[in-house]
Amino acid sequence: MTRPVITVLLGDPRLPDRNKPGGRFTPNDFDQVLRLQSALEELGDYRFEYCNDHQQLLDDLRYQPPAFVLNFCDTGFRNDATLELHVASYLEMLGIPYSGSGPVALGLCYDKALVRALAQSVGIPVPREDLLRPGEPLPQIHYPAFIKPNRGDGSVGITAASVVNNAAEATAYLEQLRATLPTENLIIQEFLAGDEYGVGIIGNPGDGFILLPVLEVDYSALDPALPRLLDYSSKTDPESPYWNDICFRQAGLDANTQQRLKDYCQALFARLGLRDYGRFDFRTDASGEIKLMEVNPNPAWCWDGKLAHMAGHMGETHSGLLRMIIEAARKRYRLCV
Ligand SMILES: Nc1ncnc2c1ncn2[C@@H]1O[C@H](COP(=O)(O)OP(=O)(O)O)[C@@H](O)[C@H]1O
Ligand SMILES: [Mg+2]
Repeated sequence: MTRPVITVLLGDPRLPDRNKPGGRFTPNDFDQVLRLQSALEELGDYRFEYCNDHQQLLDDLRYQPPAFVLNFCDTGFRNDATLELHVASYLEMLGIPYSGSGPVALGLCYDKALVRALAQSVGIPVPREDLLRPGEPLPQIHYPAFIKPNRGDGSVGITAASVVNNAAEATAYLEQLRATLPTENLIIQEFLAGDEYGVGIIGNPGDGFILLPVLEVDYSALDPALPRLLDYSSKTDPESPYWNDICFRQAGLDANTQQRLKDYCQALFARLGLRDYGRFDFRTDASGEIKLMEVNPNPAWCWDGKLAHMAGHMGETHSGLLRMIIEAARKRYRLCV
């Protein structure tokens, strides 16, 4: 029997990527792709092809349309994060079935303030927040506070200095961010001092969901002098204590709290129109209330990412996680698995 062919769409390692350190793919990025390939090869019932040449991408997809795309192009078209949704749009226009969220969900979730407003409107706890357009002055707020770009992924623009304890620190970090991201809106929000959780969901509203075990970010080995957060170096710099001394574990939340988080995530999944899988990041405030930080409609697929850890906590390998994602998408298209 011939195995269904799946075309895996990835970022383009030939092109610059301004979200990566040094503006290019790193050795770790290449290693991630190799590990992805070997995990996919373990799924013996599919054949995988890989597509990462963005100069050729539009013609390739148009003139040799794949039967099914595994859309892991989380860098965006030509590694431009603002063009992440355009990849999904183009696949949609060509009628090519693909895994993961469509362009509307990808676009909505790229705007953190918009997701926060929507979450608040359906009763999900969110941090207090002000949105600062370029040039807008610092508002009167409570401290400590947290400053980050409104649009962004991979902790771009998030460092230890994002935690600000007074107006002087806030002004200094705003100026620093505005120097590098002059056209971006920034967020200044309540600093969520407590524990950090990730919730992963695989599936679709009509077909049912697999709720992965809730993950907690384990900061216990991090130097207590450092603020507890997943800063940019935690995702990009193998030399950083944030990379080396932070790990993930299964959250020890009581059943009611877990259920409440999962209810929030399913509501957001449906309302934002996510598809096939998604990851939701939360953190606890000073009074112990868990609040939403962001929704990831195209979360990291890598072997050591949060989703892979969640899958590990239910006894699944990286390959097993990838299989669940592929099967959720193919079931949505009613393709035989
Ligand atoms: N309000 C906040 N209070 C405390 N830490 C925060 C807050 N917002 C973000 N963080 C920290 O920054 C990290 C990245 O923020 P997040 O909003 O998830 O952006 P990204 O899309 O870059 O992952 C979080 O995992 C968390 O550790
Ligand atoms: Mg995040």
